[in-house]
Amino acid sequence: MLGDVEAIPAMLTVIDTDPGIDDALALLLAWGSPGVRVDALTTVAGNVPLAAAVTNALRLMALRRPTPAPRISAGAEQPLVRPLWTAVKYHGADGLGDLPGWPPVDVDLVPRDAVPLLLDAARRYGPDLTLIALGPLTNVALALRADAAAMRRIARLVVMGGAVDVPGNVTGTAEFNIYVDPEAAREVLDAGLTVDVVPLDATRQATITRAELEQALGRTPGPLADRIAAFTERGFRVDLGRGSPGMVLHDPLAVGAAIDPTLVGWERVRLAVGDGGETRRASGDPNCRIARTVDLPRFRTMLLDRLCPADRGAS
Ligand code: RIB
Ligand code: CA
Repeated sequence: MLGDVEAIPAMLTVIDTDPGIDDALALLLAWGSPGVRVDALTTVAGNVPLAAAVTNALRLMALRRPTPAPRISAGAEQPLVRPLWTAVKYHGADGLGDLPGWPPVDVDLVPRDAVPLLLDAARRYGPDLTLIALGPLTNVALALRADAAAMRRIARLVVMGGAVDVPGNVTGTAEFNIYVDPEAAREVLDAGLTVDVVPLDATRQATITRAELEQALGRTPGPLADRIAAFTERGFRVDLGRGSPGMVLHDPLAVGAAIDPTLVGWERVRLAVGDGGETRRASGDPNCRIARTVDLPRFRTMLLDRLCPADRGAS
């Protein structure tokens, strides 16, 4: 947490995440962004069960050694009312490409206090806080249930999720994060927060090729660069196998749009969440804005310049 005398950084954020290969790149982007302070990571079951999400948050912290080191907290191990549906087919059983050789981490050291942590950050930082949600919205919904007034103090909630005018990636109409917990997404959109949604409409445009990533990592060789190349390999293999021109950067684009909202073109809409995880336009006052277009060259440059900074790459 920020001390009383420390200046508020350009962007103070808490990231709720279900790491996940693209979550990992999103965290590295946030940690490598000047003026961005990641005060805490709250983990949620989604891509992988909660224990694996916590393990991966600890692994990435140990790999990247961000300063200051964000607090890590464990949150919901399943959606509000449904059984958990994971994405291990994409991310691997462990969520980071099933690589050998990660140093051991101790998940028992991580407190199970994501909701109190989110509420404490909302009460402490309020209009200076941007909350970024990269997984199912279970933790955010539980925090709203506990104290909606506190959560409404935050400046913005940026959500990677949804498929508005494009097909879903779980079903023809549902995107994964919303599909896993549509009840949570509905409660979040109806809570009166300032919500920026970065859906598949935008994220599918955000791809990088292996060559682009290898060229960027080649500028800062070392253990961090090697590990990034290794854990992204599965992402490339699956996305290229699905016909994508490169790896699709869902969560990194959400972090990029949180840091620099001019990276994407926004549209204010009212989104309704269907029981099958659909996110469709509805009549009535807007409850969010959705990202629809992407300034790809600027986003790619932002990501590739920040993933593996020189002072972390070699050591
Ligand atoms: O649909 C993409 C989203 O689902 C991303 O957040 C990815 O990490 C998975 O959680
Ligand atoms: Ca995610």
